[in-house]
Amino acid sequence: MLLEVSNDLTEWAVCVRVYFLALSCWISEIFFEYFTKGHTELLDEIRKSEVNQQHISEKVAVVTGADGTIGREVVRLLLSMNFTVHAIVGDSYKANEIFHGKAGYPSDRLRLYRSNFERNKEIIALSRLIAEKTRGNISIFIGCAGVMLVRKKYINNIESHLSVNVLANALFIKALQECFNERTRVLLLGSSTCRVAMVPVLESEEHLLTNYVGPYQSYAYSKLALAAYVEHLSSSRFTTACVHPGVVPSGLYRNTNFFVKLVTYIICPFFLRNGAFAALLVVHTATRNDLQKGSYYEDTKRIPVTDRLSIQCKQSLANAFNRLANKELGIAA
Ligand SMILES: NC(=O)c1ccc[n+]([C@@H]2O[C@H](COP(=O)([O-])OP(=O)(O)OC[C@H]3O[C@@H](n4cnc5c(N)ncnc54)[C@H](OP(=O)(O)O)[C@@H]3O)[C@@H](O)[C@H]2O)c1
Repeated sequence: MLLEVSNDLTEWAVCVRVYFLALSCWISEIFFEYFTKGHTELLDEIRKSEVNQQHISEKVAVVTGADGTIGREVVRLLLSMNFTVHAIVGDSYKANEIFHGKAGYPSDRLRLYRSNFERNKEIIALSRLIAEKTRGNISIFIGCAGVMLVRKKYINNIESHLSVNVLANALFIKALQECFNERTRVLLLGSSTCRVAMVPVLESEEHLLTNYVGPYQSYAYSKLALAAYVEHLSSSRFTTACVHPGVVPSGLYRNTNFFVKLVTYIICPFFLRNGAFAALLVVHTATRNDLQKGSYYEDTKRIPVTDRLSIQCKQSLANAFNRLANKELGIAA
């Protein structure tokens, strides 16, 4: 009973802080877009980047969540930069409408794959197929897939936000790492909500991945865990980083209540960042020459969001995700 009351209070506190944070992000994102770096400047820097200057045969990208609001724009931008894009979607019907429908952008450099990130075996089988199709050469991996505000749900005993938003990325990275070289960029979409997640008490590695307080805390905490996992990967030979794409009215809000949905889909599109600008920022971060391994970025700035976690907690999170990924991949500990 006492635990339930404390969980409810935590969830309410995180929920209120998430909406205040969204408001402050909205203001700072408008400022960034109109006064710091606009569309032309970001695009110009992307075009001049070393990643974009590579030979066309090297320009191979993998994008997850490619049928999402931000993911589809990331794919569109990469195709316009002459990348061959291996796009992973959650829904084939929706993807066909987006890429091959009336308003689509057909390209002979676009390859579509479908996968459900709640099924680890599917992720591994797909990674093997992509490794084969890309002939072991991937220059950019952008992880746009993500879920938010899912009710209490466990996937193979892992809380569902942690499973889709973190473990799926860990599996892709481990299964595809042979295709990554020193110049490869791996960029995962985080969220500024990681700043307001409550840090759980470190009881055990298992508790870090199973504990569920409520939907807002679970989403925010999964993004904090993602930033910590990215930091742990800073010792890899390829460059991994995390980025908050901005507050964008999108399919991500499908689990919010009626009132929030109404405001998000009817009113917010006039005021908030759109998917195209978010994608521009994502690709800009992925291609910037000075991208720092293991860092988290918001509007081109590095923010030390993982400082709130103890070294022991970060290590336990990394161990837990590595152990699960290795087990799924059949790699001995
Ligand atoms: N929008 C924002 O305000 C915002 C803010 C901060 C961070 N982000 C992050 O940005 C990323 C992209 O979000 P978005 O706004 O573009 O949301 P979105 O439109 O809902 O896109 C999410 C994508 O993830 C895919 N996905 C979700 N669950 C999946 C599963 N089990 N298996 C395979 N694919 C799955 C979805 O596929 P289907 O739709 O086909 O299921 C979709 O392609 C997310 O990681 C999100 O956390 C967004």
